[in-house]
Amino acid sequence: MSTEFDLGALLAERGAERYDLHARYLNPQLPRMLHTIGFDKVYERAEGAHFYDADGNDYLDMLAGFGVMGLGRHHPVVRKALHDVLDLDLADLTRFDCQPLPGLLAERLLVHSPHLDRVFFGNSGTEAVETALKFARYATGRPRVLYCDHAFHGLTTGSLSVNGERGFRDGFAPLLPDTAVPLGDLGALERELKKGDVAALVVEPIQGKGVHEAPPGYLRAAQELLHKHKALLIADEVQTGLGRTGDFYAYQHEDGVEPDLVCVAKALSGGYVPVSATLGKDWIFKKVYSSMDRVLVHSASFGSNAQAMAAGLAVLSVMEDEQIVARARTVGELLRSRLAALTEKYELLADVRGRGLMIGIEFGRPDSLKLRGRWTMLQTARKGLFAQMVVVPLLQRHRILTQVSGDHLEVIKLIPPLVIDEADVERFVEAFTAVMDDAHSGGGLMWDFGRTLIKQAVAGR
Ligand SMILES: Cc1ncc(COP(=O)(O)O)c(C=O)c1O
Repeated sequence: MSTEFDLGALLAERGAERYDLHARYLNPQLPRMLHTIGFDKVYERAEGAHFYDADGNDYLDMLAGFGVMGLGRHHPVVRKALHDVLDLDLADLTRFDCQPLPGLLAERLLVHSPHLDRVFFGNSGTEAVETALKFARYATGRPRVLYCDHAFHGLTTGSLSVNGERGFRDGFAPLLPDTAVPLGDLGALERELKKGDVAALVVEPIQGKGVHEAPPGYLRAAQELLHKHKALLIADEVQTGLGRTGDFYAYQHEDGVEPDLVCVAKALSGGYVPVSATLGKDWIFKKVYSSMDRVLVHSASFGSNAQAMAAGLAVLSVMEDEQIVARARTVGELLRSRLAALTEKYELLADVRGRGLMIGIEFGRPDSLKLRGRWTMLQTARKGLFAQMVVVPLLQRHRILTQVSGDHLEVIKLIPPLVIDEADVERFVEAFTAVMDDAHSGGGLMWDFGRTLIKQAVAGR
C-alpha cells in the first residue's frame, strides 16, 4: 500500500491554514464574513450535537449543518455501515448491473409514504427538486411550475426558477417561466391553474426561510385543486423530512395529503455522504422511463452509490430503533414552549413558531421608547441586524451555533440534530434568556456590537 498520502499528517501540517486557504482558493466572502462576526473558530472534533475546540470547549450545535446532521455527528451505527461498505470491496457503480442497496433503501424509504411507489436517487437537495420538476413537466406534458413566495428549493438553475427570493435570482435570468403564488392563497393557485399550462405546485410544508407553515387545510385543498386541473403536488421535504418536524414528513401533519412527488435529501445519509431521493407515483416514473430507449433519460453518475445507500439504510434503522421522530416531537415541543413563554417577558421577542425541531424565533419592534430608538436605528441600516446581534453572543459567550433564517429577516431558525436532549434545551433557553436580558438592558456589549454592524451595513451598500 502506498504510504505517500497520509490524511492525518496533512491536516496536522496544514490544518492551521484553513481560513487562508479558503480566502485564496474558494468563496472569498465566507472567511471575510466569519472574521467579521467572530465566527472564525477552529473546531477540532464533533460528536452528537456538540463540537469541541482545541481547548476542549464544548459548543452546542443548533444548526446541524443546515439540517444534514439529523442524527448528530458520527452516529456509531451510520459510521459502522460506512466502514462496512469499504471493507466489503463491493462492485459499486458498474452502472450496468442492479446492486442490492438502492432497492433495499427505496423499499425501506417508501414504507413512510405508502401512496408512493418508486424512487430516483441523486446527490443533493437541489437535484431532488430538479428531478421532481423534470418528472412533473414530462408526466403532465405542461411547462409551468408554481412555487410559493419566499420559497427555497436549492440553487441550481431549475430550482432557482422556483426560488421565491429576488436576492438569489437576480442576475441569473432567464430562468424557467415559472410563477409565484402566496403560500396559503388558494384563489391565486386556482387562477394560475385555470390557464391550463401548469405541471405542478412545488411547496415546502414549512418554509425554511422564516419558518412559515402552510395554513391548516392548505395542502389538502391545494392538492384537490391541482388534481382537478390535472397538475401535480410536489412536496419539498429536503429540510422538513425525516422526522425534523415531529412527523416523518411534514406534509403528514395534515390528514389526506398525498403528494405526487416528494423530495428528500440532507439528513438521509446522516450527514456523511451527499444523497437525495425523489419519491413518486408509479405512473409518473413509467411515463418518464417509458421505453428501453429512455432508460437513461434521467440519471446521475453517482446516484445510488453504495456509501450513500448504506448510510441511508443505517439512518432509517437508527430512526426506528431510537424513535427519532417521536423524540423530535417531544423535545421540540419542550424547546418551543419554553421559548414561547419568554414572549411575555421580552418586548423584543415577537413570536416563537414551528413544529418539532424546526423552530423560528422572530424579533419585532419593542414598545418602550428607549428600545424603540435603537431598534429603528438598526432597521434603518438593514433589516436582520438585530437577529444577527443575538446569534453572535449566543456563539461568542455561550458557545451555541445558530443562524439567522434568511437575509433581511429578524428571525433565528433552530434546526438542531434530532438527538439533542433536555439538558441541551435547558442550556439553550438559559443562554437565550441571558442574551435577551442583555438586549433589554439597553446598554452593554450587545448594542455596541449593533453599532459595529450598522457601520458595516452602511459601508457595504
Ligand atoms: C427545502 C429545501 N429544498 C432544497 C434545498 C437544497 O438542498 P441542497 O443544498 O442539498 O442542494 C434546501 C437546502 O437548504 C432546502 O432547504
